[in-house]
Amino acid sequence: MLKGRSLIEPGNFSLEETESLFSLAEKIEDDEQYLRESCRGKLLATLFFEPSTRTRLSFEAAMLRLGGSYLGFAEPGSSSAAKGESLADTIRTVSCYADAIVMRNPKEGAALLASRYSTVPVINAGDGGHHHPTQTLTDLLTIKRLRGEIKNLTVGFCGDLKFGRTVHSLAKTLARYENIRLIFISPEELVIPEYITRQLQKQKVPFTETRNLEEAMPRLDVLYMTRVQRERFFNEEDYIRLKDIYVLNGEKMATGKNNLIVLHPLPRVNEIAVEVDNDPRAAYFKQAKYGMYVRMALLASILGVI
Ligand code: CP
Repeated sequence: MLKGRSLIEPGNFSLEETESLFSLAEKIEDDEQYLRESCRGKLLATLFFEPSTRTRLSFEAAMLRLGGSYLGFAEPGSSSAAKGESLADTIRTVSCYADAIVMRNPKEGAALLASRYSTVPVINAGDGGHHHPTQTLTDLLTIKRLRGEIKNLTVGFCGDLKFGRTVHSLAKTLARYENIRLIFISPEELVIPEYITRQLQKQKVPFTETRNLEEAMPRLDVLYMTRVQRERFFNEEDYIRLKDIYVLNGEKMATGKNNLIVLHPLPRVNEIAVEVDNDPRAAYFKQAKYGMYVRMALLASILGVI
């Protein structure tokens, strides 16, 4: 069903297709031998024009676990982009060598552009402050695994909601599920973009905006913390003023529900105190592992081996 398809933003896959990836990822998690060697002979290109730990390494681990191989670069200085080669020419070239391309790029729209020049599927691993669809697959699979279903939830997003591509992708996707309420918690300077709130209004998804994490805390089923991203700021002073505006600590966790799920796409800086890591409701490292399983499911599906 997904063979040969690109994933640029979460809406590229229907709800049914997304759910089929979760079922596949669950089978892979439950049986480590399932789909092992299914991608033997296939090559994945990982082109990272921005730093990454989880996304790049989980894609590479996913490909290796499926029996395939990968090639690529972890920073553009080692590629001919440093000599001024255009993205279009890079993609045209790499699609001669690989069966699929995973790309992260600081420019919004770069993944869409890449998909127009590529002869193989392109997976968006983050385009600037726009989208990060495989993080959304990771986030939703984590909720599904921990709660059994993705519905009847109040989800709070906290931190940098303006530039946070993981927030944009997840909020838009949650809107497709039943009985979801969203609470956006951010400083005035980092509010959720209007193009997201307009979409939520159109889909009649209830949402509120607040500056106050403490006030929202007792109402949440899922809390999605995010980092204030230094790399997206034009002005260091603004970054310093806002970077520690929300810090989730033990005291705030004490006001949360017993079955709260705390997610974070990671990396974190100061926004979740280390003391929270031992709280059973902290799910962000489990989330990083689910990211590998769902990326295995995605690669097996778009490479057509399942
Ligand atoms: N969640 C995420 O995108 O992490 P990395 O930047 O480490 O890939």
